[in-house]
Amino acid sequence: MPRSISTCTSSLVIFGGTGDLSCRKLIPALLRLKSGGYLPSDLQVIISGRNPLGRDELINHFRSRFDSRSESYQLLEKSLEELAPRIHYIQVDPQRPNAREELFRALRQIEREGVAPARLFYLALPPQQMPAFLPLLPGLLGKEKNTSCLSRILVEKPFGHDFTSALELNNQLLSIAHEDQIMRIDHYLGKEAIQNILVLRFANVLFEPVWNRNYIDHVQISFAEKIGVGSRSKYFDSAGILRDVVQNHLLQVLSLTAMEPPISNLPSDIRREKMKILRALQPLSREHVKTYAIRGRYEKSDRNDVKVRGYLEEEGVEPTSTTETYAALKTHVDSWRWGGVPFYLRAGKRLSTNLTEISIFFKLPPHFIFEGCCGPGQPNVLNLRVQPDEGIQMLVQSKKPGMELIISPINLDFSYQESFGAYRPDAYERLLLDALHGDLSLFLCKEEIDLAWKFIDPIIEAWKNEDPANLEGYPAGSDGPKSAENLLKADGRAWKNLT
Ligand code: BG6
Repeated sequence: MPRSISTCTSSLVIFGGTGDLSCRKLIPALLRLKSGGYLPSDLQVIISGRNPLGRDELINHFRSRFDSRSESYQLLEKSLEELAPRIHYIQVDPQRPNAREELFRALRQIEREGVAPARLFYLALPPQQMPAFLPLLPGLLGKEKNTSCLSRILVEKPFGHDFTSALELNNQLLSIAHEDQIMRIDHYLGKEAIQNILVLRFANVLFEPVWNRNYIDHVQISFAEKIGVGSRSKYFDSAGILRDVVQNHLLQVLSLTAMEPPISNLPSDIRREKMKILRALQPLSREHVKTYAIRGRYEKSDRNDVKVRGYLEEEGVEPTSTTETYAALKTHVDSWRWGGVPFYLRAGKRLSTNLTEISIFFKLPPHFIFEGCCGPGQPNVLNLRVQPDEGIQMLVQSKKPGMELIISPINLDFSYQESFGAYRPDAYERLLLDALHGDLSLFLCKEEIDLAWKFIDPIIEAWKNEDPANLEGYPAGSDGPKSAENLLKADGRAWKNLT
Protein backbone atom coordinates (compact mmCIF):
# COMPACT_ATOMS: atom_id res chain seq x y z
CA MET A 1 0.00 0.00 0.00
CA PRO A 2 1.40 3.36 -0.98
CA ARG A 3 0.69 5.23 2.24
CA SER A 4 2.71 6.20 5.24
CA ILE A 5 0.93 6.23 8.60
CA SER A 6 0.99 10.00 9.00
CA THR A 7 -2.61 11.10 9.11
CA CYS A 8 -4.03 13.76 11.32
CA THR A 9 -7.35 11.95 11.83
CA SER A 10 -7.53 11.42 15.59
CA SER A 11 -10.86 9.58 15.88
CA LEU A 12 -12.84 7.36 13.61
CA VAL A 13 -16.48 7.40 14.65
CA ILE A 14 -18.66 4.73 13.03
CA PHE A 15 -22.41 5.31 13.25
CA GLY A 16 -24.15 1.99 12.71
CA GLY A 17 -20.90 0.44 13.91
CA THR A 18 -22.44 -2.78 15.23
CA GLY A 19 -24.35 -3.42 12.00
CA ASP A 20 -23.76 -5.86 9.19
CA LEU A 21 -21.53 -3.68 7.00
CA SER A 22 -19.37 -2.66 9.90
CA CYS A 23 -18.87 -6.23 11.17
CA ARG A 24 -18.35 -7.80 7.74
CA LYS A 25 -16.27 -5.14 6.02
CA LEU A 26 -15.21 -2.10 8.04
CA ILE A 27 -13.85 -3.68 11.20
CA PRO A 28 -11.89 -6.41 9.33
CA ALA A 29 -10.50 -3.70 7.00
CA LEU A 30 -9.48 -1.61 9.98
CA LEU A 31 -7.84 -4.59 11.66
CA ARG A 32 -5.87 -5.46 8.53
CA LEU A 33 -4.69 -1.84 8.32
CA LYS A 34 -3.64 -2.08 11.95
CA SER A 35 -1.77 -5.28 11.30
CA GLY A 36 0.02 -3.75 8.30
CA GLY A 37 1.13 -0.80 10.45
CA TYR A 38 -1.03 1.74 8.61
CA LEU A 39 -3.01 3.11 11.53
CA PRO A 40 -1.63 5.97 13.61
CA SER A 41 -0.83 4.67 17.07
CA ASP A 42 -3.17 7.16 18.78
CA LEU A 43 -6.23 6.70 16.54
CA GLN A 44 -9.35 6.15 18.67
CA VAL A 45 -12.07 3.98 17.16
CA ILE A 46 -15.50 4.94 18.41
CA ILE A 47 -18.40 2.68 17.62
CA SER A 48 -21.88 4.02 18.01
CA GLY A 49 -25.12 2.07 18.25
CA ARG A 50 -28.59 2.44 19.69
CA ASN A 51 -28.44 -0.23 22.40
CA PRO A 52 -26.40 -0.23 25.60
CA LEU A 53 -23.25 -2.33 25.17
CA GLY A 54 -20.06 -2.79 27.18
CA ARG A 55 -16.64 -2.81 25.54
CA ASP A 56 -16.16 -6.56 26.10
CA GLU A 57 -19.54 -7.31 24.59
CA LEU A 58 -18.66 -5.13 21.61
CA ILE A 59 -15.31 -6.85 21.07
CA ASN A 60 -17.01 -10.26 21.33
CA HIS A 61 -19.68 -9.12 18.91
CA PHE A 62 -16.97 -8.31 16.34
CA ARG A 63 -15.08 -11.51 17.08
CA SER A 64 -18.20 -13.63 16.61
CA ARG A 65 -18.46 -12.37 13.03
CA PHE A 66 -14.96 -13.52 12.00
CA ASP A 67 -14.92 -16.59 9.85
CA SER A 68 -12.74 -19.10 11.71
CA ARG A 69 -12.00 -20.95 8.44
CA SER A 70 -10.63 -17.87 6.71
CA GLU A 71 -6.88 -17.44 6.14
CA SER A 72 -6.87 -14.09 7.91
CA TYR A 73 -8.67 -15.36 11.03
CA GLN A 74 -5.54 -15.37 13.24
CA LEU A 75 -4.47 -11.98 11.98
CA LEU A 76 -7.90 -10.47 12.75
CA GLU A 77 -7.97 -12.04 16.22
CA LYS A 78 -4.51 -10.71 17.10
CA SER A 79 -5.14 -7.29 15.66
CA LEU A 80 -8.48 -7.00 17.49
CA GLU A 81 -6.80 -7.83 20.77
CA GLU A 82 -4.17 -5.15 20.17
CA LEU A 83 -6.63 -2.51 19.06
CA ALA A 84 -9.24 -3.30 21.76
CA PRO A 85 -8.02 -0.69 24.30
CA ARG A 86 -8.58 1.99 21.66
CA ILE A 87 -12.04 0.76 20.64
CA HIS A 88 -14.89 2.46 22.49
CA TYR A 89 -18.63 2.22 22.42
CA ILE A 90 -21.10 5.07 22.71
CA GLN A 91 -24.83 4.68 22.74
CA VAL A 92 -26.46 7.25 20.49
CA ASP A 93 -30.16 7.71 19.95
CA PRO A 94 -30.54 10.71 17.64
CA GLN A 95 -34.17 11.20 18.77
CA ARG A 96 -33.15 12.09 22.33
CA PRO A 97 -33.40 15.84 22.94
CA ASN A 98 -29.81 16.08 24.25
CA ALA A 99 -28.30 13.56 21.83
CA ARG A 100 -25.85 16.09 20.37
CA GLU A 101 -24.50 17.28 23.71
CA GLU A 102 -24.23 13.71 24.98
CA LEU A 103 -22.28 12.69 21.89
CA PHE A 104 -19.99 15.68 22.25
CA ARG A 105 -19.30 14.91 25.90
CA ALA A 106 -18.66 11.24 25.17
CA LEU A 107 -16.20 12.08 22.38
CA ARG A 108 -14.30 14.57 24.53
CA GLN A 109 -13.92 11.97 27.26
CA ILE A 110 -12.26 9.60 24.83
CA GLU A 111 -10.17 12.07 22.88
CA ARG A 112 -6.84 13.30 24.14
CA GLU A 113 -7.05 16.48 26.14
CA GLY A 114 -5.61 19.62 24.62
CA VAL A 115 -5.55 18.19 21.08
CA ALA A 116 -7.86 19.72 18.47
CA PRO A 117 -9.69 16.63 17.21
CA ALA A 118 -9.90 15.74 13.52
CA ARG A 119 -12.71 13.24 13.31
CA LEU A 120 -13.83 10.97 10.55
CA PHE A 121 -17.55 10.28 10.95
CA TYR A 122 -18.42 7.14 9.01
CA LEU A 123 -22.17 6.90 8.40
CA ALA A 124 -22.64 3.16 7.92
CA LEU A 125 -26.39 3.60 8.13
CA PRO A 126 -29.40 2.68 6.01
CA PRO A 127 -30.41 5.70 3.88
CA GLN A 128 -33.61 6.36 5.84
CA GLN A 129 -31.60 6.83 9.05
CA MET A 130 -29.06 9.32 7.64
CA PRO A 131 -31.21 12.47 8.01
CA ALA A 132 -31.68 11.84 11.74
CA PHE A 133 -27.94 11.54 12.40
CA LEU A 134 -26.65 14.52 10.41
CA PRO A 135 -28.05 17.17 12.81
CA LEU A 136 -25.80 15.67 15.51
CA LEU A 137 -22.69 16.69 13.64
CA PRO A 138 -22.55 20.52 13.41
CA GLY A 139 -20.17 21.69 16.06
CA LEU A 140 -18.30 18.37 15.99
CA LEU A 141 -16.97 18.94 12.48
CA GLY A 142 -15.41 22.38 12.48
CA LYS A 143 -16.19 24.13 9.21
CA GLU A 144 -13.12 26.40 9.17
CA LYS A 145 -11.55 25.74 5.79
CA ASN A 146 -8.10 26.96 6.75
CA THR A 147 -7.28 24.17 9.17
CA SER A 148 -4.94 21.65 7.56
CA CYS A 149 -6.61 18.83 9.41
CA LEU A 150 -10.29 18.74 8.60
CA SER A 151 -12.92 16.59 10.22
CA ARG A 152 -14.89 14.69 7.58
CA ILE A 153 -18.10 12.77 6.96
CA LEU A 154 -18.06 9.55 5.00
CA VAL A 155 -21.47 8.53 3.65
CA GLU A 156 -22.21 4.92 2.72
CA LYS A 157 -24.21 4.05 -0.34
CA PRO A 158 -26.97 4.02 -1.42
CA PHE A 159 -26.84 7.79 -1.52
CA GLY A 160 -30.58 8.53 -1.30
CA HIS A 161 -33.16 6.33 -2.96
CA ASP A 162 -33.84 8.56 -5.99
CA PHE A 163 -32.70 11.85 -7.49
CA THR A 164 -34.81 14.01 -5.17
CA SER A 165 -33.76 12.31 -1.95
CA ALA A 166 -30.10 12.37 -3.05
CA LEU A 167 -30.44 16.10 -3.66
CA GLU A 168 -31.95 16.58 -0.20
CA LEU A 169 -29.21 14.54 1.43
CA ASN A 170 -26.58 16.57 -0.39
CA ASN A 171 -28.15 19.84 0.68
CA GLN A 172 -28.29 18.62 4.24
CA LEU A 173 -24.62 17.62 4.10
CA LEU A 174 -23.57 20.90 2.52
CA SER A 175 -25.39 22.85 5.21
CA ILE A 176 -23.08 21.36 7.84
CA ALA A 177 -19.84 20.72 5.93
CA HIS A 178 -17.79 21.88 2.94
CA GLU A 179 -17.69 19.75 -0.20
CA ASP A 180 -14.10 18.72 0.62
CA GLN A 181 -15.24 17.37 3.99
CA ILE A 182 -17.76 15.01 2.37
CA MET A 183 -16.79 11.56 1.13
CA ARG A 184 -19.41 9.59 -0.80
CA ILE A 185 -18.30 6.02 -1.06
CA ASP A 186 -18.82 3.43 -3.79
CA HIS A 187 -16.59 0.60 -2.65
CA TYR A 188 -16.25 -0.73 -6.20
CA LEU A 189 -13.87 2.16 -6.89
CA GLY A 190 -11.54 0.72 -4.25
CA LYS A 191 -11.26 -2.63 -6.00
CA GLU A 192 -7.93 -3.33 -7.69
CA ALA A 193 -9.47 -4.64 -10.90
CA ILE A 194 -11.71 -1.58 -11.21
CA GLN A 195 -8.77 0.78 -10.76
CA ASN A 196 -6.96 -1.25 -13.38
CA ILE A 197 -9.55 -0.42 -16.06
CA LEU A 198 -7.99 3.00 -16.50
CA VAL A 199 -4.43 1.66 -16.40
CA LEU A 200 -5.22 -1.00 -18.99
CA ARG A 201 -6.92 1.50 -21.28
CA PHE A 202 -4.61 4.47 -20.90
CA ALA A 203 -1.17 3.07 -20.01
CA ASN A 204 -1.14 0.79 -23.08
CA VAL A 205 -1.22 1.77 -26.70
CA LEU A 206 -2.93 -1.42 -27.80
CA PHE A 207 -6.52 -0.89 -26.73
CA GLU A 208 -7.40 2.74 -27.43
CA PRO A 209 -7.39 2.48 -31.28
CA VAL A 210 -9.97 -0.32 -31.20
CA TRP A 211 -12.00 0.95 -28.25
CA ASN A 212 -14.92 2.26 -30.28
CA ARG A 213 -17.91 1.43 -32.47
CA ASN A 214 -15.69 0.50 -35.44
CA TYR A 215 -14.32 -2.54 -33.63
CA ILE A 216 -16.56 -3.20 -30.66
CA ASP A 217 -19.85 -4.98 -31.25
CA HIS A 218 -21.23 -4.69 -27.74
CA VAL A 219 -20.29 -4.60 -24.05
CA GLN A 220 -21.65 -6.76 -21.22
CA ILE A 221 -21.31 -5.89 -17.54
CA SER A 222 -22.32 -8.69 -15.20
CA PHE A 223 -22.73 -8.89 -11.43
CA ALA A 224 -23.81 -12.23 -9.95
CA GLU A 225 -24.04 -13.34 -6.35
CA LYS A 226 -24.90 -16.72 -4.88
CA ILE A 227 -26.18 -15.22 -1.67
CA GLY A 228 -29.72 -13.98 -1.15
CA VAL A 229 -30.70 -10.98 0.93
CA GLY A 230 -29.84 -12.63 4.26
CA SER A 231 -30.22 -10.35 7.25
CA ARG A 232 -30.52 -7.25 5.05
CA SER A 233 -34.03 -8.00 3.85
CA LYS A 234 -35.58 -4.90 5.41
CA TYR A 235 -33.23 -2.57 3.60
CA PHE A 236 -33.16 -4.62 0.40
CA ASP A 237 -36.92 -4.90 0.13
CA SER A 238 -37.15 -1.11 0.05
CA ALA A 239 -34.33 -0.83 -2.48
CA GLY A 240 -34.13 -3.69 -4.99
CA ILE A 241 -31.09 -4.67 -7.04
CA LEU A 242 -31.43 -1.74 -9.44
CA ARG A 243 -30.87 0.76 -6.62
CA ASP A 244 -28.56 -1.49 -4.63
CA VAL A 245 -26.04 -2.41 -7.30
CA VAL A 246 -26.85 -1.01 -10.77
CA GLN A 247 -27.30 2.69 -9.88
CA ASN A 248 -23.87 2.78 -8.25
CA HIS A 249 -21.42 -0.08 -8.89
CA LEU A 250 -22.46 -1.01 -12.42
CA LEU A 251 -22.89 2.55 -13.70
CA GLN A 252 -19.48 3.43 -12.26
CA VAL A 253 -17.97 0.43 -14.05
CA LEU A 254 -19.75 1.42 -17.26
CA SER A 255 -18.48 4.99 -17.11
CA LEU A 256 -14.87 3.88 -16.51
CA THR A 257 -15.14 1.44 -19.42
CA ALA A 258 -16.67 3.95 -21.84
CA MET A 259 -15.04 7.27 -20.88
CA GLU A 260 -12.77 9.30 -23.15
CA PRO A 261 -9.08 9.52 -22.18
CA PRO A 262 -8.80 12.17 -19.43
CA ILE A 263 -6.04 14.76 -19.77
CA SER A 264 -4.45 13.58 -16.49
CA ASN A 265 -5.15 11.15 -13.70
CA LEU A 266 -6.22 13.95 -11.37
CA PRO A 267 -9.53 12.97 -9.77
CA SER A 268 -11.25 16.06 -11.21
CA ASP A 269 -10.18 15.15 -14.78
CA ILE A 270 -11.31 11.56 -14.39
CA ARG A 271 -14.63 12.57 -12.85
CA ARG A 272 -15.29 15.03 -15.68
CA GLU A 273 -14.97 12.27 -18.29
CA LYS A 274 -17.02 9.79 -16.27
CA MET A 275 -19.79 12.33 -15.91
CA LYS A 276 -19.91 12.88 -19.68
CA ILE A 277 -20.71 9.18 -20.08
CA LEU A 278 -23.45 9.27 -17.44
CA ARG A 279 -24.92 12.29 -19.20
CA ALA A 280 -24.74 10.53 -22.56
CA LEU A 281 -26.63 7.42 -21.40
CA GLN A 282 -29.75 7.09 -23.51
CA PRO A 283 -32.68 7.44 -21.10
CA LEU A 284 -35.23 4.64 -21.20
CA SER A 285 -38.77 5.90 -21.88
CA ARG A 286 -41.70 4.07 -20.29
CA GLU A 287 -42.24 2.17 -23.55
CA HIS A 288 -38.55 1.25 -23.75
CA VAL A 289 -38.50 0.05 -20.15
CA LYS A 290 -40.94 -2.74 -21.07
CA THR A 291 -38.57 -4.05 -23.71
CA TYR A 292 -35.12 -3.12 -22.46
CA ALA A 293 -35.33 -3.34 -18.66
CA ILE A 294 -35.96 -6.81 -17.31
CA ARG A 295 -36.64 -7.59 -13.68
CA GLY A 296 -36.87 -10.88 -11.86
CA ARG A 297 -37.16 -12.37 -8.39
CA TYR A 298 -35.66 -15.58 -7.07
CA GLU A 299 -37.94 -18.44 -6.19
CA LYS A 300 -37.41 -21.44 -3.99
CA SER A 301 -35.47 -24.32 -5.39
CA ASP A 302 -34.07 -27.64 -4.24
CA ARG A 303 -31.27 -28.14 -6.76
CA ASN A 304 -28.94 -30.97 -5.80
CA ASP A 305 -31.20 -31.60 -2.80
CA VAL A 306 -30.26 -28.26 -1.24
CA LYS A 307 -33.40 -26.42 -0.28
CA VAL A 308 -33.20 -22.66 -0.79
CA ARG A 309 -36.13 -20.42 -0.02
CA GLY A 310 -37.58 -17.94 -2.44
CA TYR A 311 -37.36 -14.18 -1.92
CA LEU A 312 -40.94 -13.89 -0.67
CA GLU A 313 -40.22 -16.52 2.00
CA GLU A 314 -37.21 -14.57 3.34
CA GLU A 315 -37.69 -13.22 6.85
CA GLY A 316 -38.68 -9.56 6.81
CA VAL A 317 -39.87 -9.47 3.19
CA GLU A 318 -43.43 -8.23 2.71
CA PRO A 319 -45.70 -10.91 1.18
CA THR A 320 -46.94 -8.28 -1.31
CA SER A 321 -43.40 -7.18 -2.22
CA THR A 322 -42.65 -6.42 -5.88
CA THR A 323 -38.95 -5.82 -5.25
CA GLU A 324 -36.61 -7.17 -7.92
CA THR A 325 -33.61 -9.32 -7.01
CA TYR A 326 -32.44 -9.42 -10.63
CA ALA A 327 -32.26 -6.69 -13.27
CA ALA A 328 -30.96 -6.63 -16.82
CA LEU A 329 -30.81 -3.56 -19.04
CA LYS A 330 -29.84 -2.60 -22.52
CA THR A 331 -28.62 0.94 -22.96
CA HIS A 332 -26.53 3.08 -25.30
CA VAL A 333 -23.99 5.83 -24.81
CA ASP A 334 -24.92 8.62 -27.23
CA SER A 335 -21.53 9.70 -28.50
CA TRP A 336 -19.40 9.40 -31.64
CA ARG A 337 -17.27 6.74 -30.03
CA TRP A 338 -20.15 4.52 -29.01
CA GLY A 339 -22.94 5.28 -31.52
CA GLY A 340 -24.89 2.03 -32.11
CA VAL A 341 -22.94 -0.08 -29.55
CA PRO A 342 -25.28 -1.65 -26.97
CA PHE A 343 -24.22 -1.89 -23.35
CA TYR A 344 -25.96 -4.76 -21.58
CA LEU A 345 -25.98 -4.74 -17.77
CA ARG A 346 -27.19 -7.50 -15.49
CA ALA A 347 -27.15 -7.93 -11.72
CA GLY A 348 -28.74 -10.59 -9.59
CA LYS A 349 -28.84 -12.27 -6.21
CA ARG A 350 -29.14 -16.03 -5.66
CA LEU A 351 -27.62 -16.88 -9.01
CA SER A 352 -25.50 -19.88 -9.90
CA THR A 353 -22.17 -18.22 -9.10
CA ASN A 354 -20.30 -15.24 -7.63
CA LEU A 355 -18.88 -13.10 -10.37
CA THR A 356 -18.35 -9.53 -11.51
CA GLU A 357 -16.90 -8.90 -14.94
CA ILE A 358 -16.83 -6.63 -17.95
CA SER A 359 -16.83 -8.36 -21.32
CA ILE A 360 -15.98 -6.45 -24.47
CA PHE A 361 -17.18 -8.31 -27.54
CA PHE A 362 -15.33 -7.25 -30.68
CA LYS A 363 -16.71 -7.41 -34.22
CA LEU A 364 -15.91 -10.25 -36.58
CA PRO A 365 -13.10 -9.67 -39.09
CA PRO A 366 -14.51 -7.74 -42.09
CA HIS A 367 -13.53 -10.56 -44.45
CA PHE A 368 -13.09 -14.05 -43.03
CA ILE A 369 -10.76 -15.98 -45.33
CA PHE A 370 -11.16 -19.28 -43.45
CA GLU A 371 -14.89 -19.51 -44.09
CA GLY A 372 -14.71 -22.56 -46.37
CA CYS A 373 -12.91 -24.72 -43.84
CA CYS A 374 -13.70 -23.40 -40.42
CA GLY A 375 -17.17 -22.01 -40.08
CA PRO A 376 -18.19 -18.42 -39.65
CA GLY A 377 -15.50 -17.44 -37.11
CA GLN A 378 -15.92 -16.15 -33.58
CA PRO A 379 -15.38 -12.68 -32.18
CA ASN A 380 -12.50 -11.71 -29.92
CA VAL A 381 -13.68 -11.11 -26.38
CA LEU A 382 -11.74 -9.11 -23.82
CA ASN A 383 -12.84 -10.06 -20.36
CA LEU A 384 -11.97 -7.93 -17.35
CA ARG A 385 -12.63 -10.11 -14.32
CA VAL A 386 -13.26 -8.02 -11.22
CA GLN A 387 -13.93 -10.98 -8.90
CA PRO A 388 -13.30 -13.70 -7.99
CA ASP A 389 -9.83 -14.55 -9.41
CA GLU A 390 -9.21 -10.99 -10.64
CA GLY A 391 -7.64 -11.01 -14.04
CA ILE A 392 -7.88 -10.28 -17.74
CA GLN A 393 -8.66 -12.83 -20.39
CA MET A 394 -8.57 -12.33 -24.13
CA LEU A 395 -10.29 -14.81 -26.37
CA VAL A 396 -8.43 -15.06 -29.69
CA GLN A 397 -8.69 -17.47 -32.59
CA SER A 398 -5.80 -19.81 -33.17
CA LYS A 399 -4.82 -22.75 -35.39
CA LYS A 400 -5.15 -26.04 -33.63
CA PRO A 401 -1.84 -27.93 -34.08
CA GLY A 402 -2.20 -30.72 -36.63
CA MET A 403 -2.28 -31.53 -40.35
CA GLU A 404 -5.70 -30.04 -40.87
CA LEU A 405 -6.60 -26.39 -40.66
CA ILE A 406 -8.81 -26.19 -37.65
CA ILE A 407 -9.39 -22.88 -35.91
CA SER A 408 -10.08 -22.93 -32.25
CA PRO A 409 -10.50 -20.13 -29.65
CA ILE A 410 -7.84 -19.88 -26.96
CA ASN A 411 -7.76 -17.74 -23.86
CA LEU A 412 -4.80 -15.47 -23.15
CA ASP A 413 -5.10 -15.43 -19.41
CA PHE A 414 -3.60 -12.97 -16.95
CA SER A 415 -4.20 -13.59 -13.26
CA TYR A 416 -3.42 -10.99 -10.58
CA GLN A 417 -2.66 -13.74 -8.12
CA GLU A 418 -0.10 -15.44 -10.37
CA SER A 419 1.57 -12.20 -11.43
CA PHE A 420 1.50 -10.19 -8.24
CA GLY A 421 1.01 -12.73 -5.45
CA ALA A 422 -1.86 -13.30 -3.12
CA TYR A 423 -2.02 -9.99 -1.24
CA ARG A 424 -4.44 -7.44 -2.59
CA PRO A 425 -5.97 -4.90 -0.23
CA ASP A 426 -9.71 -5.25 0.11
CA ALA A 427 -11.66 -2.31 -1.34
CA TYR A 428 -12.72 -1.11 2.12
CA GLU A 429 -9.14 -1.33 3.40
CA ARG A 430 -7.96 0.95 0.65
CA LEU A 431 -10.86 3.40 0.95
CA LEU A 432 -10.74 3.56 4.73
CA LEU A 433 -7.06 4.44 4.61
CA ASP A 434 -7.73 7.10 1.94
CA ALA A 435 -10.51 8.49 4.12
CA LEU A 436 -8.23 8.70 7.18
CA HIS A 437 -5.78 10.61 4.99
CA GLY A 438 -8.50 12.87 3.60
CA ASP A 439 -7.76 11.70 0.04
CA LEU A 440 -10.95 12.12 -1.99
CA SER A 441 -9.67 10.64 -5.29
CA LEU A 442 -11.68 7.42 -5.13
CA PHE A 443 -14.85 8.97 -3.76
CA LEU A 444 -17.81 10.26 -5.75
CA CYS A 445 -18.86 13.82 -6.31
CA LYS A 446 -22.46 14.99 -6.01
CA GLU A 447 -23.00 15.36 -9.77
CA GLU A 448 -22.03 11.75 -10.55
CA ILE A 449 -24.64 10.50 -8.13
CA ASP A 450 -27.29 12.87 -9.50
CA LEU A 451 -26.64 11.75 -13.08
CA ALA A 452 -26.83 8.08 -12.14
CA TRP A 453 -30.22 8.63 -10.44
CA LYS A 454 -31.49 10.57 -13.45
CA PHE A 455 -30.87 7.47 -15.56
CA ILE A 456 -32.33 5.02 -13.01
CA ASP A 457 -35.38 6.99 -11.79
CA PRO A 458 -37.49 6.60 -14.98
CA ILE A 459 -36.99 2.83 -14.87
CA ILE A 460 -38.12 2.61 -11.26
CA GLU A 461 -41.05 4.91 -12.02
CA ALA A 462 -42.13 2.78 -14.99
CA TRP A 463 -41.85 -0.41 -12.90
CA LYS A 464 -43.90 1.18 -10.13
CA ASN A 465 -46.71 1.87 -12.56
CA GLU A 466 -46.84 -1.62 -14.02
CA ASP A 467 -49.97 -3.45 -12.99
CA PRO A 468 -49.51 -6.32 -12.51
CA ALA A 469 -45.76 -6.12 -11.96
CA ASN A 470 -43.89 -7.78 -14.78
CA LEU A 471 -41.57 -9.63 -12.44
CA GLU A 472 -40.38 -12.98 -13.71
CA GLY A 473 -39.46 -15.67 -11.22
CA TYR A 474 -36.19 -17.58 -11.55
CA PRO A 475 -35.14 -20.59 -9.48
CA ALA A 476 -32.55 -19.78 -6.80
CA GLY A 477 -29.18 -21.02 -8.07
CA SER A 478 -30.03 -20.51 -11.76
CA ASP A 479 -28.62 -17.93 -14.21
CA GLY A 480 -31.62 -15.60 -13.94
CA PRO A 481 -34.93 -15.11 -15.73
CA LYS A 482 -35.60 -16.27 -19.29
CA SER A 483 -36.59 -12.78 -20.41
CA ALA A 484 -33.03 -11.59 -19.69
CA GLU A 485 -31.78 -14.21 -22.15
CA ASN A 486 -34.37 -13.02 -24.65
CA LEU A 487 -33.17 -9.44 -24.30
CA LEU A 488 -29.94 -10.44 -26.06
CA LYS A 489 -31.48 -13.12 -28.25
CA ALA A 490 -33.65 -10.45 -29.87
CA ASP A 491 -30.39 -8.79 -31.02
CA GLY A 492 -28.85 -12.07 -32.20
CA ARG A 493 -26.53 -12.16 -29.17
CA ALA A 494 -26.15 -14.15 -25.97
CA TRP A 495 -24.87 -13.45 -22.46
CA LYS A 496 -21.40 -14.70 -21.68
CA ASN A 497 -21.58 -17.79 -19.47
CA LEU A 498 -21.59 -17.05 -15.77
CA THR A 499 -18.40 -19.02 -15.13
C1 BG6 B 1 -23.16 -3.72 -1.85
C2 BG6 B 1 -24.58 -4.17 -2.01
O1 BG6 B 1 -23.01 -2.38 -2.21
O2 BG6 B 1 -22.33 -4.52 -2.69
C3 BG6 B 1 -24.73 -5.65 -1.68
O3 BG6 B 1 -25.38 -3.41 -1.12
C4 BG6 B 1 -23.75 -6.48 -2.48
O4 BG6 B 1 -26.05 -6.10 -1.91
C5 BG6 B 1 -22.36 -5.90 -2.36
O5 BG6 B 1 -23.78 -7.79 -1.97
C6 BG6 B 1 -21.39 -6.59 -3.29
O6 BG6 B 1 -20.10 -6.15 -2.99
P1 BG6 B 1 -18.86 -7.08 -3.34
O7 BG6 B 1 -17.68 -6.25 -2.97
O8 BG6 B 1 -19.01 -8.31 -2.50
O9 BG6 B 1 -18.97 -7.35 -4.80
